[in-house]
Amino acid sequence: MKRITVKEAITATDLIGSTITVNGWVRTFRSNRFIAINDGSTIKNIQAVINFENQEESVLKSINTGAAISVTGTLVESQGGGQNVEIQVSSFEILGEANPEEYPLQPKKHSLEFLREKAHLRIRTNTFGAVFRVRHAMSYAIHNYFHTRGFYQMHTPIITGSDAEGAGEMFRVTTNDQNNVPKNEEGEVDTTKDFFGKETNLTVSGQLEAELGALGLGKVYTFGPTFRAENSNTTRHLAEFWMIEPEVAFNDIIDNMNLAEDFLKSLAQYALDNCMDDLEFLRDRELQEEKSKPQIERNELNLIERLQFITANDFERITYTEAIRILENSKPYKKKKFQYMPEWGSDLQTEHERFLVEKHFKKPVIINNYPASFKAFYMRANEDGKTVAAMDILFPGIGEIIGGSQREERLDVLKEKCKDFNIPEEHIWWYLETRKFGTCKHSGFGLGFERLVMFVTGMTNIRDVIPFPRTPNNAEF
Ligand code: 4AD
Ligand code: MG
Repeated sequence: MKRITVKEAITATDLIGSTITVNGWVRTFRSNRFIAINDGSTIKNIQAVINFENQEESVLKSINTGAAISVTGTLVESQGGGQNVEIQVSSFEILGEANPEEYPLQPKKHSLEFLREKAHLRIRTNTFGAVFRVRHAMSYAIHNYFHTRGFYQMHTPIITGSDAEGAGEMFRVTTNDQNNVPKNEEGEVDTTKDFFGKETNLTVSGQLEAELGALGLGKVYTFGPTFRAENSNTTRHLAEFWMIEPEVAFNDIIDNMNLAEDFLKSLAQYALDNCMDDLEFLRDRELQEEKSKPQIERNELNLIERLQFITANDFERITYTEAIRILENSKPYKKKKFQYMPEWGSDLQTEHERFLVEKHFKKPVIINNYPASFKAFYMRANEDGKTVAAMDILFPGIGEIIGGSQREERLDVLKEKCKDFNIPEEHIWWYLETRKFGTCKHSGFGLGFERLVMFVTGMTNIRDVIPFPRTPNNAEF
């Protein structure tokens, strides 16, 4: 018997009249006759039609939502509306029961909060099935984008001995017995006795290593897990997230912005071209959710329109200084509606970013040339002596989706920066050596993968776009 997936079955017009087997989970069972089966291969279910005249009552009772089932029968054109084909079942088997008294995912609307508590099962719902299929598609599209443009993927370390990045608080990696930590004569933890003979942490970014790669391979990218121990309980932060970091030799900040914009547009286009079934489901789901929200909180464009908008329109490009000027002339500024007043020299707050993207420009915005004071040590100093060649890309509803910069390639300037940032040269001697030997201008950026998936799926909480989120006080699954 030919076992095929639901996705294959619903499109297999050439198999009409043949006997096939489909395995999956029961979504609904109605009129003691129609079973909707889903196997995760697609958002769509296949309908299995069973003649129950010869069936035992007990068999009927075990066809419950969530049960694993195998059906064999003839694929026929559907009699009812809503589907093209269905299976006239000749035999079936319940592979695994799901007691309706206990199975939490009954065919009714469950809140996302409830489903977060059931992260081990939520993957079986329509919403999370769609989200995780889109997540996969985006991962594939990212590798495809870079591969076809001559980039090499670099696997940068997850355990790092360098804390120079300064991107956030780190998680310590140690094999020390926590009840008996080796101490030195001064009573401090003796890291030389630890596994690596020095202090190590989980990486906050693969950038510094990606730079080393770019300065030999030309164009590289990383795609890996990233860890930040900030205690920020927001809808946009995870303690463990995935980041994509391209790094390109000989690119300046303009090339970098061009690459980032083209990259994001191409990913949105990939989703439109390849994930339409799931996107339509997610669009309708969002429209349904928004019905209970006040007008002001609803999206002007629906999910699919937003993706189309991204592909069709240039991103706005402004300097940080221009951004501050716009904010200072804005209504909320004049009416003192901002919680934090924007001021040249301090970082933009979420409310400022949202104003620029959602109210003022109503499109993605690339802000560049930020003050050096609150940006990382490796960002290239501009001629004005005050700003660096940094760029952030802000998306409607998401905020910062990409952060990047041109890197400081001048050894003397970089050494000065290390001093200013209290980074001992011996900690990143290897990084500095790339500026000593064959240095050249180069640039790169980091895309937060989950923030991308939020944008493409319309999910508004980052915990709902990664299978098993890691956030403060939450590492259950
Ligand atoms: O702006 P960030 O901190 O930049 C870097 O780490 C650079 N090393 C990137 C580079 O130039 N190669 O982080 C990059 C992106 C952010 O724009 C955001 O999308 C995402 O990573 N991000 C997070 N996503 C989820 N949870 C968090 N806690 C995140 N922190 C950053
Ligand atoms: Mg950033």
